[in-house]
Amino acid sequence: MPERLSLTRAARLIGVTRGMLQKKIQQGELMTFEGKVAISDLATAYPAARIEDNSTLERFTRIKDDAFAHRVRERILPDPEVLLARIETLTRELVSLKSEVEQKRVLLHRISMEIAAADVGGAASAKHTLSTLGLILREQELVPLQPDTSLLIQNHFLRIMTAQIRLLPSNHEFLIEGNDTILDAALRSGLSLDYGCSSGNCGLCKAKIVSGETKKIRYSDFTLTEAEKADGYILLCAHTAITDLVIEATEAGGTRGIPLQHIVARVKTVQELSETLMLLHLQTPRSSRLRFLAGQRVTLMIGDNALDAAIASCPCDDRNLQFHLPKAVLSGSTMPTLKPGDSVTLEGPRGDFVLSEESQRPLLFIAWGTGFAPIKSLIEHAMALNAAESISLYWINESQWGHYMHNLCRSWSDALDNFRYAPLIAASEPELKRTLDGIASEVRDLGKHDIYVAGPKTWAEIIAKYLNGSGLPMTQLLLDYL
Ligand code: FES
Repeated sequence: MPERLSLTRAARLIGVTRGMLQKKIQQGELMTFEGKVAISDLATAYPAARIEDNSTLERFTRIKDDAFAHRVRERILPDPEVLLARIETLTRELVSLKSEVEQKRVLLHRISMEIAAADVGGAASAKHTLSTLGLILREQELVPLQPDTSLLIQNHFLRIMTAQIRLLPSNHEFLIEGNDTILDAALRSGLSLDYGCSSGNCGLCKAKIVSGETKKIRYSDFTLTEAEKADGYILLCAHTAITDLVIEATEAGGTRGIPLQHIVARVKTVQELSETLMLLHLQTPRSSRLRFLAGQRVTLMIGDNALDAAIASCPCDDRNLQFHLPKAVLSGSTMPTLKPGDSVTLEGPRGDFVLSEESQRPLLFIAWGTGFAPIKSLIEHAMALNAAESISLYWINESQWGHYMHNLCRSWSDALDNFRYAPLIAASEPELKRTLDGIASEVRDLGKHDIYVAGPKTWAEIIAKYLNGSGLPMTQLLLDYL
């Protein structure tokens, strides 16, 4: 039987998103069997993919790493015991496959001999049939077991370096790398598992292993009873995967699944983004991270001031939180000047401007000015989920100086084949309408997209009205007002 891979593993192997694979499947260019693809079919659909050519995968990994800040850059090889266990598992599989192949070869040889003997004295038709059968069997003996050795080798290497995890009941899948805990790997993959402290104390990340082996690499698991441990429960923040796993775990089913939190974070940096904007980078304590969904907002308590702000970073890096704030607000007369090490209390998260994760539609983002902040969080989250068929970003400003993270957006579009970025300028309502006409004629099938719009209320409402007038169903449009 040909080796079959899940879409998550196949996408990683070829270096494309799962959304791009799904598109190939919908177009009939790639066959699946029970949701899996054969390596041979993968090699046919992507003839250029070879072990020597990792460039697409590397570009994609690099751009994701940039989104996930330094926590991801600390990635290292898996623990030696984990590596050894994975190599042992693969070796056992190899030995069993080799013995199966040997048995088949012996069988084929015996059948060929029998046919050759029968061939000597049979009737003409039987003789013809037998000789055809003999030919087929001899051909089968010569057919290589797998048509693409380089992909096979690459897949086995991938299986040593990563394990695949499937969550029940959602069937969400992700890969775990390096010395990551299962919780870290799930967050990096854009999944919102239940958790609290990330340090083995609260027990909220408790989950049941249905199949596979894990190893405890961090913290104690005293919050679990002996009966729970015997029943297969582990703490996801304390364990990594040795083999592929199936786990029963609870995920947040939308914003209502995330509790309101109060966290005291420290200022890591305060940097200038433009003449009018500052980037505030806060870091939470390791044991008290902010659980939120991409696109949500928090209240920042700075001195006696309460500031509503969109989080401009990805939940996949939940300790490092970024905000794009007006200089004028940060330098207000009642606002203390922030410097590294200062405390800022966060209250949140709030808001429903979040990705519709079950939707398979292409994603289209329209940001106006600093509406880019929540859109950036959504885009980084969409990249972590790796499921979108395509992502388009139109960033509108009154002047070119408003595109304060133009280089970042350019780097996304340079690195990702399915990412499109266009910086646009519109200083008045008529100009905005012309700009939207341009977007509509470029995208053409607006109605097939999920569209996310963020910006000042006046402008966002004009955009929403235009999109509704173009026939976009309201269920596919989400707005965030600044
Ligand atoms: S998140 Fe608290 S114990 Fe794992």
